[in-house]
Amino acid sequence: MSDLKRGLSEAVEAAFADLGLPPGLGRVTASDRPDLADFQANGALAAAKRVGRNPREIATAVAERLAGDPRLMAVEVAGPGFINFKLTDQALSGRAQAIADDPRLGAETLVQPRRVLVDYGGPNVAKPMHVGHLRASIIGEAIKRLYRFRGDIVLGDAHFGDWGYQMGLLIGAVMDESPAIADAVERLNAGEAADAKAFDTVSLADLDRLYPESAARGKDDAAYRDRARKITAGLQARRPGYYALWQRFHDVTRVALERDFHALGVDFDLWKGESDVDPLIEPMVAELDAKGLLALDQGARIIRVVREGDKKELPPLLVVSSEGSAMYGTTDLATILDRKQTFGPDLVIYCVDQRQADHFEIVFRAAYLAGYAQEGQLQHVGFGTMNGTDGKPFKTREGGVLKLADMIEMTREKARERLHEAGLGEDLPADEFEDIAGKVAVAALKFADLQNFRGTSYVFDLDRFTSFEGKTGPYLLYQAVRVKSLLRRAQAEGAQAGPISVAEPAERELVLTLDAFETALAEAYDRQAPNAVAEHAYRLSQAFSKFYAACPILQAEPAVRASRLALARTTLAQLEQALDVLGIAVPERM
Ligand code: ARG
Repeated sequence: MSDLKRGLSEAVEAAFADLGLPPGLGRVTASDRPDLADFQANGALAAAKRVGRNPREIATAVAERLAGDPRLMAVEVAGPGFINFKLTDQALSGRAQAIADDPRLGAETLVQPRRVLVDYGGPNVAKPMHVGHLRASIIGEAIKRLYRFRGDIVLGDAHFGDWGYQMGLLIGAVMDESPAIADAVERLNAGEAADAKAFDTVSLADLDRLYPESAARGKDDAAYRDRARKITAGLQARRPGYYALWQRFHDVTRVALERDFHALGVDFDLWKGESDVDPLIEPMVAELDAKGLLALDQGARIIRVVREGDKKELPPLLVVSSEGSAMYGTTDLATILDRKQTFGPDLVIYCVDQRQADHFEIVFRAAYLAGYAQEGQLQHVGFGTMNGTDGKPFKTREGGVLKLADMIEMTREKARERLHEAGLGEDLPADEFEDIAGKVAVAALKFADLQNFRGTSYVFDLDRFTSFEGKTGPYLLYQAVRVKSLLRRAQAEGAQAGPISVAEPAERELVLTLDAFETALAEAYDRQAPNAVAEHAYRLSQAFSKFYAACPILQAEPAVRASRLALARTTLAQLEQALDVLGIAVPERM
């Protein structure tokens, strides 16, 4: 069953067509004046321009055609030629009942589901995640869930960064620091037996400390950089010592990453890394060569991707460096091939910072040239940064990058404080309180991010994000929990939900908001913009608040009470569904 807005649009479009006018102009939108009307159609004005007639005349003719529609209580022409529609209580009640009975709560399913792979999160071996990974994880998780909820077949992949130059830097740095490790690596590389127990002493904290040091040194010190490049090439050639030490880096990081992602309510179907496509690279390079796509450039092998009409000159894709290493773009290209062979996606979405836009444009063009994907099947869904109050990408007070784990703990701590301030969760067992604080923290971070269009940057403001008032995640959780407690009370009193029948303005408005779920989902899907779902969740809780304030539920007479309980239950279910699409979980109580 379609939503009221679409049903009404179809009727108005048919009226336009009957009058010999372009049917597309008959689309209705939610009314600007909810006090006067539920929906409006403004197309008579554009139609009048096209056919050279009076807009009011056209509007009146359309209105006359719709006058007999049983869904409508009133059709009125206003101003220069707007058409206002007011639905009957029966039409609204019927729609509310259909949403209540629908396991999908009024959301439709795609007619043509696609196979979609979402590449997001983008964590790296040997580096704890920092706030830069926050948006990639939050937005990617929401897009994955949104596409899946709409009916696509979706896989989310972390695309673990584990195979580049930074690995060579780190292997060198760890060897410099520990003679025992250096010795074991060299023996293994030479094909000798060695005691690799020393590798087990390498911790994530060591890597975390050594990475920035060695990266900085590699920038100024050419010899140091060359060594790192050689080690990288050696690792990629699977020299046993490098490979064994790398494996240790890989394992310690993976454990820490999974913990951080879990704390953020992010989970992947695939944990593939850049290293997983390593075996594909050699044959791929041979094939690219056979296709005549590779050019030689100062000892490196590249693919030129410039196109006629480009506004700026894109650099080529560096496929094999002069040291013989695969680069960031090489593993991305091979991953496209791998995904094509193992999953056959219709669409691959890369949820990665906007600053990597050129990288993806280059890789995508190379993939299209190589025939690994069809034009348009690869999409970079970029986003802005989370900034500090200075308007620059967020840094700690000391000017460093904040680790994601620390940010999550900071937010949890604030959530605990907020809960105490509000006197929430006080008499609950300690572990339940902790679980609630975790959910409040995740809701705070995710909603603060997802309420903006992803292209927009925003300012990190923990006080505002965690507030139970305003347009925040915690506010939405609180509203949902309030409905849950109402429903528990109703159950305790033996009050049952029953057929929905609406009459009051606040009830009508709540149903119209429930009806708008599908529009919000479709918009979010089409524009890869989860903020449309965030907006819907917020409007829904506001509409519920008004309804709750204006319409007594448990005190109402039995038929009205049953209807209102059904409305409350349906609102809760749809709100939880919308939040679930955003990756936000609601506690049972607070
Ligand atoms: N690991 C990368 C980084 O930290 C992000 C990976 C994004 N995904 C991709 N397929 N390149 O910058």
